[in-house]
Amino acid sequence: MTRFEPISPKFTKLLHGADYNPDQWLHDPAILDEDVRLMQLAGCNVMSVGIFAWAALEPEEGRFDFDWLDQTIDRLWSHGVYTILATPTAARPAWMSQKYPEVLRTGGDRKRILHSGRHNHCLTSPVYRRFAVRINEKLAERYADHPGLLLWHVSNEYGGECHCDLCQEAFRDYLRERYDHDLEKLNQAWWSRFWSHTYTDWSQIESPAPHGENSVHGLYLDWMRFTTHQTRDFMAAETEPLRRLTPHVPLTANFMETYGGLDYFKLARDVDIISWDSYPTWHRDAENPADIAAATAFNHDLFRSLKQGRPFMLMESTPSQVNWQPVCKLIKPGMHRLAALQAIAHGSDTVQYFQWRKSRGSSEKFHGAVVDHAGHEQTRVFKEVSQVGRDLAALSDVCNTSVPARTAIFFDWENRWAIEHMQGLTRDRRQYVETCMQHHQAFWRQGIPVDLIDMDSEIDGYDLIIAPMLYMIRPGTAERLEQFVRRGGTLVVTYFSGLVDESDLCFLGGFPGPLRGLTGVWAEETDSLYADEHNTLAITAASLADLRGSYRIDTVCDLIHAETAEVLAVYGNDFYKGRPALTVNHVGDGEVYYVAARTEPAFLNDFYSWLGSRRGLDRVLADLPDGVTVSSRTDGEADYLFIQNYHGESRSVHLGELAGMDLLSQQHLTGTVTLDPYGIVVLKVV
Ligand code: GLA
Ligand code: ZN
Repeated sequence: MTRFEPISPKFTKLLHGADYNPDQWLHDPAILDEDVRLMQLAGCNVMSVGIFAWAALEPEEGRFDFDWLDQTIDRLWSHGVYTILATPTAARPAWMSQKYPEVLRTGGDRKRILHSGRHNHCLTSPVYRRFAVRINEKLAERYADHPGLLLWHVSNEYGGECHCDLCQEAFRDYLRERYDHDLEKLNQAWWSRFWSHTYTDWSQIESPAPHGENSVHGLYLDWMRFTTHQTRDFMAAETEPLRRLTPHVPLTANFMETYGGLDYFKLARDVDIISWDSYPTWHRDAENPADIAAATAFNHDLFRSLKQGRPFMLMESTPSQVNWQPVCKLIKPGMHRLAALQAIAHGSDTVQYFQWRKSRGSSEKFHGAVVDHAGHEQTRVFKEVSQVGRDLAALSDVCNTSVPARTAIFFDWENRWAIEHMQGLTRDRRQYVETCMQHHQAFWRQGIPVDLIDMDSEIDGYDLIIAPMLYMIRPGTAERLEQFVRRGGTLVVTYFSGLVDESDLCFLGGFPGPLRGLTGVWAEETDSLYADEHNTLAITAASLADLRGSYRIDTVCDLIHAETAEVLAVYGNDFYKGRPALTVNHVGDGEVYYVAARTEPAFLNDFYSWLGSRRGLDRVLADLPDGVTVSSRTDGEADYLFIQNYHGESRSVHLGELAGMDLLSQQHLTGTVTLDPYGIVVLKVV
């Protein structure tokens, strides 16, 4: 697959736009007219409308006002701007909270909130669902055939959990289903005889609480699964009228980075297009801007992978600063453009902002936006946004193309929940997410495209799979990995893998449990290191002679026996000095590496560079200066190479054999290219 279907057949170029909240400005029609003029100047072709507009749409129970929305969508459309129409369910009108308190969310402490904030409805309340379905149905009926309607934006950043009585009952129903109505099965799965936690009636089960149950890891895992399940259930209810009345309009729900509360691989099944909101702390550490870019790249790759590589949407970002980070730094000149095009480089087909025009009051009045309180186009930020508008127009060939990833890293929410909740290893340096990011970064810095998948994802198309800290292994995973390896795939498994099943019950008979035969190692014990303690990984294999002789190890060391595996490196210190620290096992046509300890990043860079060459995952550009990256998209005929400089100073890049047109400057480039500070070229190579 090299070209995907467009987000909507109505528009097949890159989208540029913002969250647009005209309901905050209805008292001033001149502002609304000025908005469309400025949108055209900024090269915007889409706006997300109505995200928190329930109070404006239904000012009293059962009394609806769509006039302002009719006018907004018409006005946008008459200026060539499409509408992404939101369901308003991420915040509700006060009349509803007042008359029907069951719609308000209850915290883990069992306290029901007062009317306030947003993103805080009960996931189960039939009353809330009834109101949500009604307003959504009215929106779908009214705008189904509007030519300007491009896409549904469902709610906003689903998240959080509710612990009210209705949700407790729904949780018990979920568990009855999961354990075939057999309480004994649940007790086994949760190992509840421990500390006499055995349940003798379903009604005794309660969700985790700060003042309640926290020590039954199986309960915690199932609660997290339930929260994802119930969010999806709510989403199914609120999208039913959209699916029924507007089957031709695709829908999305905006996600939040690596948010821990919901399993995004599951939510991804319910949307047509993935979208996400990106707010990196650019310039947090002036020495290392590329580290922030690496973390952002991880998110982009994750969101592209949620739908098997289909282009996603950058639904929100800020062209200047946020208002909620500890230090709300401005984004330096050029960085907005670089960040926006980084999203495109990784598979986004849109660049959108929160928000179009700065709010005059309330909590987001100082959050960066395209139009500032000054109200005109003569601002640095507006000009930079307009530049991105021109860039996106110049990059329209890139729309719908794919990212050619042959490597995948496992990033699995249930595994993450289990690692974060279990007791052991170290209290504050388990770092599952950071570890996955570190493995990812080693590829990203070399320009090798990577997907991020969970352990249920399709793996057949890859050459190389990395499974960092695969603590939990769900049924079927080991078997699928074995087939992958036998057919010639390369698998890398690390320390702290294969310890528990899907209920957090330890595998008996030796770790890494179901991966023991495949890895050819038995991990007998795991040592945890204090923050100031280190060991070393000393290379012993001649095949790895190009690597440094030794690398620093910290935090965690598996003490393994090489059973059928060959030893490539050993520990340099402690009572396990000389025991294997890196092994390879040959299985069928493939090979399985076991990295027994957490190492400094340099090891991952060198090891994956070596492994990449071995697997023919060659770098597009050799010898990239540090902090300069290359990311690729392809349509099968042309490759689009995004070469980006994350430094505040210029850098030179040697293109070697490569030559092509820079789509941004429209110049043909060969030889050595000088990138401006925060500069970028997009080379079309045929
Ligand atoms: C989130 C929300 C937006 C806005 C931004 C501010 O992403 O979806 O409504 O509050 O944060 O950064
Ligand atoms: Zn509830």
